[in-house]
Formats: sequence, structure tokens, C-alpha cells
Amino acid sequence: MRSRIAVLASGGGSNFQAIVEHFERLGEQRGGDVVLVASDRKNAGALERAHRLDIPFDVLATRTNPTGASLDDLLDKHEIDLVVLAGYLRLIPSATVARFAGRIINIHPALLPAFGGPGMYGQHVHRAVIASGVRVTGVTAHFVDEEYDRGRIIAQWPVPVFPSDDAGTLAARVLRVEHIVYPRVVDAIAGGRTTLASAAITSSDAVVDARPAFTLAAHESARLAENIDLSLGC
Ligand code: GRF
Repeated sequence: MRSRIAVLASGGGSNFQAIVEHFERLGEQRGGDVVLVASDRKNAGALERAHRLDIPFDVLATRTNPTGASLDDLLDKHEIDLVVLAGYLRLIPSATVARFAGRIINIHPALLPAFGGPGMYGQHVHRAVIASGVRVTGVTAHFVDEEYDRGRIIAQWPVPVFPSDDAGTLAARVLRVEHIVYPRVVDAIAGGRTTLASAAITSSDAVVDARPAFTLAAHESARLAENIDLSLGC
């Protein structure tokens, strides 16, 4: 199975580019093709990247830009199977969420359900993480529902927070991990290997996705005591 993918982005589009490059590396094995990039901001770097990569792109209608394209029309016109949000700041209308149930995903630069929800985007997330004093943040890929950052979690990966971090250094460390995790999640969903149903957590299976790529590898925990001793100087 190979899905037709639309990427929605409001910003620079580095995740979009990471997805395209990952698909290029996978070649014929890839689960999908990015056939459309759409943004609510006509100056979004993501649109420039789409132009450079020769991928069709469009600007979405907003209150301040009523002549833009309608999301639903674009998804129909390009026969989209999967909608990938990558730094897209707007809520997806509930009718579109219902029509694309299990076929809209997002990446969030923290470990949900912490540091998510309305207003938690970009540097706001990383500032809140630092202010809270947590030592670990991370990335979360999740299905999208009608609320910001609430849908079922597909994959998470931890990222350390260092005492010397500011929002900028932390954002950069997290973004590098997003570029590794998100393309693989997009490929798994696009290729039909992971679905909304398979991402469900049951009491007998506390791991979101049993494949090692999406979980902490077993050897990490085997070396946990050793690593803690080393870092505490025991
Ligand atoms: C990423 O940190 C993503 O998690 C968040 O917005 C940022 C987008 O970066 N939702 P980019 O536009 O992909 O470079």
C-alpha cells in the first residue's frame, strides 16, 4: 500500500523535508508520497521548500486571506489518503477530522499529555518545559482529533533537558529527534503497518507500538543501572 500524503505546515517545514528525504532513501519500499503541501501562511518556509522539491503546494483560506483554497477541496482534488501535520498551528475542522478518522497525524515537541494543548506550540512548549524543571522532554507523534494535542499517541521518544538549556538549544535538540522519529511514523501509517486501532493501548500491552523503532530498545534498560552509577559517580 502506498498513500497519497498532504503535509500541512505553518512554519519552516523542516519536518516536511525530513519526510521527503526519508521516502527518497526508502525508494520503492516507501509507504507513501507527499503529493501536496498546504499552509495557512503564504510566506511559510514549507511552501518554498515544496517549490524547490517540485511538490504541488497551495495557500489555505483564512479569515485574513479569504481567497485562499479550502482544505477539503484540496484534499479531494489531490485524492489525499493521509494528512500529516508538521508545525501546523490551526485546529482541523471537526468535519474534516471525522472524514479522515485515523488518517490525520501530528508531531508535538514534548511528551504528551504534558506540555500540550492550546497555546503550547513552538518556543512556548520549550519555555514551559524548562520552567517546570523536568529533566526529560521528547517528541510525540499522535493521531489528530478535534482538540489540540489530544489524539491517540503513536510514538514517543525522550530527549534530555540540560541545566544550561534555553528554549532555543532545547528546541534544536528536540527537532533533530523529530526528524528521525516522524518520517518513520509517517511511513508506518502511510504503508498501513500502523493504524489507529493498532496504536490502542490495552492492559496486556502497555507498549504503544511493539516494534523497536518506536520504543526504547531493550538493551537501554539492561544498561540502566550501569548508566545511573556512571552519571552519579558511584
Ligand atoms: C516542530 O517542532 C513541530 O514539532 C512543531 O512545530 C515545529 C515545526 O518545525 N509542531 P518545522 O516547520 O517542521 O521546521
